[in-house]
Amino acid sequence: MKITVLNGSPKGDLSVTMQYVNYIMKKFPSHRYETINISPPIMKIESDRKRFDEIISKVRASDAVIWATPVYYLLVPSQYKRFIELVFERKAQGAFKGKYAAVIVTSIHFFDHTSRNYLHAICDDLNMNYVGAFNPDMFDLMSGRNRKKLETFGAALFSAVETGARAPRTYPPIVYKSKQYKPGPVKKPLDPGGNIVAVITDCSDPNSNIGRMIERFSRAMSGMVKIINITGMGAKAGCSGCCRCGLDNICIHNDNFAEAYDSQVKTADIIIFAGTIKDRYFSSDWKLFLDRSFYNGHVPMLPDKQFGVLVSGPLGQVPALREMCEAMVEMQRSNLAGFVSDEADSASVDTHIDGLAKKLLDFAAAGYIQPQSFLGVGGKKIFRDAVWGRLRFVFQKDHEYYRTHGGYDFPQKDYKMRRLNFVMMLLTKIPRIRKEIRKRIPQEMVKPLQNIVKNK
Ligand SMILES: Cc1cc2nc3c(=O)[nH]c(=O)nc-3n(C[C@H](O)[C@H](O)[C@H](O)COP(=O)(O)O)c2cc1C
Repeated sequence: MKITVLNGSPKGDLSVTMQYVNYIMKKFPSHRYETINISPPIMKIESDRKRFDEIISKVRASDAVIWATPVYYLLVPSQYKRFIELVFERKAQGAFKGKYAAVIVTSIHFFDHTSRNYLHAICDDLNMNYVGAFNPDMFDLMSGRNRKKLETFGAALFSAVETGARAPRTYPPIVYKSKQYKPGPVKKPLDPGGNIVAVITDCSDPNSNIGRMIERFSRAMSGMVKIINITGMGAKAGCSGCCRCGLDNICIHNDNFAEAYDSQVKTADIIIFAGTIKDRYFSSDWKLFLDRSFYNGHVPMLPDKQFGVLVSGPLGQVPALREMCEAMVEMQRSNLAGFVSDEADSASVDTHIDGLAKKLLDFAAAGYIQPQSFLGVGGKKIFRDAVWGRLRFVFQKDHEYYRTHGGYDFPQKDYKMRRLNFVMMLLTKIPRIRKEIRKRIPQEMVKPLQNIVKNK
């Protein structure tokens, strides 16, 4: 059996993810494997058509493809995303059609599901035979139980190829015909007051729908909007994943990106993400912007801000993109005022943009940050535990931040509750009291809240 491994790690052979693939190779030595590092040479793959075609020929000649990649900012690294875009742009989908596909994503389990599901959807879009995904924590390979799981996963892949198994498509194809958005006049332009409003975008064409949405939004804000073009922020390459920034928050890339990020993005009060959907996410340029912000570590680097999202494309058909934006904003401890897409007619898009502009300013004036959902609450706990534990000595700046900003809010520190629990646990050992507590749980649970409603 011929297996092509498309390695998405910017670290190439030094990849954690690749150790999982290497383990499969070791345990199933009868197959022929070819590993192709996609991310470090992505610029060459893009500029040298011959190199791209060679990779595609290898895929065409294989029985199965393993998509192996780390999770970067809830998805895959920007370089890997660019490769996926090239496959579609250069109409190379045919090489993938009918091939068996497996996904291996390693991470610290922060939105690994969105990354895994994205690749699954891409496999579906490429009409591949998707077998499944293996999404371990980056160090799971250290335990025998997890190695056994990996072997079972590998066996399932090879068995599917051998038996010609077929799985149903999970993600329906995106069916979308873009309408031209023609912005209308703004009836009542709003004054942003002292707020710095910044639109971050990869848009290079002011006549595209997203270009027009940005222009319309800017007029809604009386033109007092700063446009930050990602491609002009000085990034010479995507994140290399080295994690050397963890010690001092200093990126190894010798370019101006971090400086531009600090001076332009962090200083804004209201931030708009604006982009066009490419496959099932924003563009790889957008992804590069997010990946490169990693020099800030696992802390809220854009706190207490208002966010909005302008999207050109079928946002309604990619709910995962919405969820990822929500998660990113919640992790910043900021507020997401809303999304506007160009799926509606032009007049409605105008109304939605005006509504978003008003909401952003109203929320900014009130200092409103909506309560976090599972996305932010769960994500924060994953980071907290990781920085407290195994990430600490590499991500020293994170540790410093968590220590000084109450980040280590482990519930164990709630001494009042621990005492209460201790007493109540003892009391519930007495059958009569246990019975009484059982009876009173519903009313006692709501009582403190009722008191607030009554007295405040
Ligand atoms: C820029 C960057 C972004 C990351 N984003 C995530 C993330 O969103 N979720 C997560 O669980 N881990 C994230 N990680 C951790 C990596 O996914 C993890 O360390 C992975 O195992 C690295 O694999 P590799 O060595 O194959 O590149 C990120 C790491 C980097 C460098």
